[in-house]
Amino acid sequence: MPKSTVTFVCTECGGESLRWAGQCPHCQAWNTLQEFEVKSARPNGRRREARAPSVALARPTPLTELAAESAPRLRLEWNELNRVLGGGIVPGSLVLIGGEPGVGKSTLLMHAAHQLVRKAAGAKVLYVSGEESNQQVHMRASRLGALDAGILLLAETELDSICEAITAEAPALAIVDSIQTVVDGAVTGSAGSVTQVRESAARLMRLAKETAIPIFLVGHVTKEGAIAGPRVLEHIVDTVLYLEGDRRQELRLLRAMKNRFGSAEEIGVFAMAEHGLEEVPDPSAALLTGSTQSSPGTSVVVVMEGTRPLLIEIQSLVNSTSNNLPPRRVANGLDVNRLHMLIAVLEKRARLALGRHDVYVNVAGGIRITEPSADLGLALSVVSNLSGVPLPDGTVVVGELGLAGEVRRVSQLERRLQEAARHGFTRALIPAGSRAGRPAGLEVIEVRTLGEAIASAPLPKNIRSGAFIEEAATTVS
Ligand code: TYD
Ligand code: MG
Repeated sequence: MPKSTVTFVCTECGGESLRWAGQCPHCQAWNTLQEFEVKSARPNGRRREARAPSVALARPTPLTELAAESAPRLRLEWNELNRVLGGGIVPGSLVLIGGEPGVGKSTLLMHAAHQLVRKAAGAKVLYVSGEESNQQVHMRASRLGALDAGILLLAETELDSICEAITAEAPALAIVDSIQTVVDGAVTGSAGSVTQVRESAARLMRLAKETAIPIFLVGHVTKEGAIAGPRVLEHIVDTVLYLEGDRRQELRLLRAMKNRFGSAEEIGVFAMAEHGLEEVPDPSAALLTGSTQSSPGTSVVVVMEGTRPLLIEIQSLVNSTSNNLPPRRVANGLDVNRLHMLIAVLEKRARLALGRHDVYVNVAGGIRITEPSADLGLALSVVSNLSGVPLPDGTVVVGELGLAGEVRRVSQLERRLQEAARHGFTRALIPAGSRAGRPAGLEVIEVRTLGEAIASAPLPKNIRSGAFIEEAATTVS
């Protein structure tokens, strides 16, 4: 009888330890170690009996004899989804779709299932739901207009039964919603524990590879944004996609975090509507409201998400602090530390006295900006709100801000400018020295410093409080 040993796995970083400790020795997180039972390898080291009879034993193959891609990818109707997957669903791949509860993971996968079965007559998709009853899944499908006999429902949480059903039905795609509900009877621990999640995912991975059936797993995300259960799950699967978005807003972003079959930079954009999700092929248009364009405190930036430029509106609100309280800095949709840094640069390099002002910043559409190319646009929106003067209509701002107040160049400027021109923008403030082509109809203004940018925006250099000293803004180079 093979003996099993026990190790401890950190739910944060997936690191293993031989003994329990209050703090993970790898990532220093507290109370994250969970017991994990390691089954000893069988005498022949593999689960040979679990293999399909048609699969030959492992044999090394010369690299040149392998076909580049043995089976074509399954393309879905939505290009937004195909793009994030790296061009469609790869046969035999294991894809993890993470996201907060209620963001729309089950909805997205039901749409994908429907698109696959509609594509080819007789195609089947197996939808295993461990969270909702068949009735609930049926209700959602009918709301989405996805009722199709090709979609087979299975309300099941037992891993063995799930694997059997996948093998027996041999669907074009299997969906397991969610991995945290799956239980492997041979393993200790309750559903959702490190042991269960890790073992189940590893088994499904083997099954996907052996049968060439692609499997999508839904994974819940904890408050901290990590997929519940071990981070190891991310190491096991081929592709990790996160569905993000503010539940109160329409837009949903499907972001590739890891992709063995394509770029991990891509995003797909969707909108949640009355009858489920819709793809948004032109997200810039959806993100620009247009109406607030000329109000003080609003600026439009162009950030790159993977290969595509996105026009995004940033709004700032600057108020005097009340009752001598410490000033508040609130950033929705971007890192608050970046905001602190930009405020420091505005204070030092543009002599703006913000120490007695609360600064609130909001990125429109529930989008999260991670690119520093939005720095200058954000800084100008703060200046604009403080001065009460709007940026001229049709202006986009691109550039990273350095600590010395210098405007730094950004990558792929030409694509950003083209996107701005395509959406009818007429003026662009860009970092000086950029060698990008200038799209027709777009006046391009090169700026070297924050001061120059404020002057060319144009925004006033003397702000009511007298806090804004004219010369200071332009001396920095
Ligand atoms: P769901 O796919 O169940 O989320 P998840 O599986 O990620 O937990 O989506 C639930 C939310 O989506 C719910 O709050 C309602 C909303 N929704 C719509 O707005 N329209 C629809 O057609 C559907 C099906 C859901
Ligand atoms: Mg769900």
